[in-house]
Amino acid sequence: MEAQPPVIRAFGDAGVAEAAALIRAGGMVAVPTETVYGLAADARDAQAVAGIYAAKGRPSFNPLIVHVADIAAAEAIATFDEDARAVVARFWPGPLTLVLPLRADAGIASLVTAGLDTVAIRVPAHRAMQALIAASGAPLAAPSANASNAISPTCAAHVAASLGSRVPLIINDGATVAGVESTILAGRTILRPGPVTAEMLRDVLPVAPGRTAHVSAPGQLATHYAPAKPLRLDATQVSADEWLIGFGAVAGDDTLSSRGDVVEAAARLFDTLHRADASDRSRIAVAPVPEVGVGVAINDRLRRAAHR
Ligand code: TXA
Ligand code: MG
Repeated sequence: MEAQPPVIRAFGDAGVAEAAALIRAGGMVAVPTETVYGLAADARDAQAVAGIYAAKGRPSFNPLIVHVADIAAAEAIATFDEDARAVVARFWPGPLTLVLPLRADAGIASLVTAGLDTVAIRVPAHRAMQALIAASGAPLAAPSANASNAISPTCAAHVAASLGSRVPLIINDGATVAGVESTILAGRTILRPGPVTAEMLRDVLPVAPGRTAHVSAPGQLATHYAPAKPLRLDATQVSADEWLIGFGAVAGDDTLSSRGDVVEAAARLFDTLHRADASDRSRIAVAPVPEVGVGVAINDRLRRAAHR
């Protein structure tokens, strides 16, 4: 079958309805925000989120930002303190992301937070992203809508050039205004500088710049869940004290994907690691995962976990 180029729809009711239907069906859509175009999927749907990583060809799992309609929707997902409330009262909707404790009942797929107990969340100001959140009824996980290692897209043509047939639909609403990704704030530390500057934030909170969230090798960030137990790769047989995470024909105590599907495996990775950590066995062994597609990101993550 020929790969189809993405459908590009002008912003409007029809385009947004079509995009929302794709999101509700577990797919993904490129949509502008005030910063850059994002590649959005339902943040509650692990398979859909795994599809984002597969489409971007990301070699590692970086946690994603969840986009919601308003502060009330954000409070259903994250726990706010007084600092957080003061900042969002001033800057939301807008290009500011907060890293906050993830609520236990948030219902967000663990691949979105890379298994962490914090979540990055923002209320975007852009009409297209807001319309898509409303029409899909979903919190939307969205990294920038470009292939891994390519520059962030600020117009629909950038998205089409970078992702091609890997994105089915792009909502076109012209060039983005900010052009750089949102500011990321964790507590009083700026993890990533962005359109909401330190000076602007200091009107509300005494913030300080921190370690940037953008480094050359994102997988080296400590921003992933790491199992506490020793972990061994490429296992097909185990000793009595090992918990085997299977894949495909290797059944195991648990499995990343019994049908050998790397997208399903990516969707299940962090939950599976949490269960392995919680098991009655003292060590973890993982079956071979093929180095294809998003399997590259799974293996990258597993290798880092094995070499600590
Ligand atoms: O402007 C933006 O923020 C765009 C648009 C689409 O909203 N999105 C974006 O997403 O830039 P992305 O995936 O390229 O960047 C997300 C950043 C990553 O650097 C990641 O490490 C950080 O957010 N991040 C996400 N969750 C985190 C967490 N729980 N703790 C620390 N950093 C986190
Ligand atoms: Mg990016």
